[in-house]
Amino acid sequence: MRKPIVAGNWKMNKSVGEAVELASGIKIDLADCVNVDVVLCPPFTALKAVGDVISGTVMKLGAQNMHWEKEGAYTGEVCAGMLRDLYCRYVILGHSERRAYFHEPDETINLKVKAAIVGAITPILCVGETLEEREGNKTEQVVSAQVRACLKDVGEGAASIVVAYEPVWAIGTGRTATPEQAQEVHALSRGLLADIFDKKTADSIRIQYGGSMKPGNAKELMSQPDIDGGLIGGAALDAGSFVEIVRAAFHNAASEGN
Ligand code: PGA
Repeated sequence: MRKPIVAGNWKMNKSVGEAVELASGIKIDLADCVNVDVVLCPPFTALKAVGDVISGTVMKLGAQNMHWEKEGAYTGEVCAGMLRDLYCRYVILGHSERRAYFHEPDETINLKVKAAIVGAITPILCVGETLEEREGNKTEQVVSAQVRACLKDVGEGAASIVVAYEPVWAIGTGRTATPEQAQEVHALSRGLLADIFDKKTADSIRIQYGGSMKPGNAKELMSQPDIDGGLIGGAALDAGSFVEIVRAAFHNAASEGN
């Protein structure tokens, strides 16, 4: 049985003080959610402060991006070692905002995924189609190509990867994929993972859904057999909403006997 994972992607929001306040609000309410992995991904500037707040709790720290090289002349970048130094356990890679606004191609996302694994940081690999691609019946083709390219030559450590299916048309739009639409792509992705690695590995990889997940739809989405949690943007900026989503994952997992 896969342990659900709920991660908050705070994007470019929150000063250090605001981040500490948000993390503190979440911390108070989450002491008992033991069968869910909960990850907070604040901006780089607040990683240290949020790490201090959540240290000793069930929550883990995640970053929103990293470079694939170990060190060097890459102005403005951070590497896996620097993130480990701050006790980051996760890193979001290939988010559609990075693909769209910073032109990140699958090839460099693949380098980052491999560097994260080598650096002992769990990559949360984001994939997903645009509205145009969905309406052109290209969802399967687009997601398959992204998964294959971003996981190329990933060997050891594959089972620990997290994949996030985030339909671009659902991110920050309030428009959520129906549980059936999401499940269909999650099942397709798991099949692909079995093909790329093997069935056992595919069965252990968590696949999160992301895209306007909120307290009102989280339970239904996460009750689908291949949806193992959520990558939450907007709703993660409010402690109460984020905690409600984690609780939905917790209750689902408890009822499935995790
Ligand atoms: P959203 O963002 O929950 O605001 O749609 C999700 C994400 O971008 O990870």
